[in-house]
Amino acid sequence: MPASDKLVAAARAAREHAVADFSHFKVGAALETDTGDIVTGCNVENASYGLTICAERVAIFKALSEGKRAFKRIVVVADTADPTPPCGACRQIIWEFCGDIEVTIANLQKVTKTLQMKDLLPLPFDKRLL
Ligand code: THU
Repeated sequence: MPASDKLVAAARAAREHAVADFSHFKVGAALETDTGDIVTGCNVENASYGLTICAERVAIFKALSEGKRAFKRIVVVADTADPTPPCGACRQIIWEFCGDIEVTIANLQKVTKTLQMKDLLPLPFDKRLL
């Protein structure tokens, strides 16, 4: 099932809260749980740039901190014509905590791409190897 308009709208709304004073690149994410709840996130930058956290990880860590453990899909929104896919760090976190979920990428006008996590992170490292 494709990401609902509601989930895409939630990611766009979350993007408005981005703290992106350094890059000015605002990103929003909306994560749908197995029970249909929506948890959102935005990127948060700070003066020691490397501590920046992406929208996807904010959404996932918020959800985990609320006791949510099973997820269906995530939507990522940026104001770019080409799809803005999750960065490498986010791919690892999405894979570990959400598994092979659907990842939908959208901009402010439309959905630009939908992929599965297994295709975004082939040959992943995870707890099965520990
Ligand atoms: N960023 C995200 O939040 N998610 C992505 O998928 C790509 C990058 C953020 C991190 C940083 O605040 C800004 O975008 C520029 O890299």
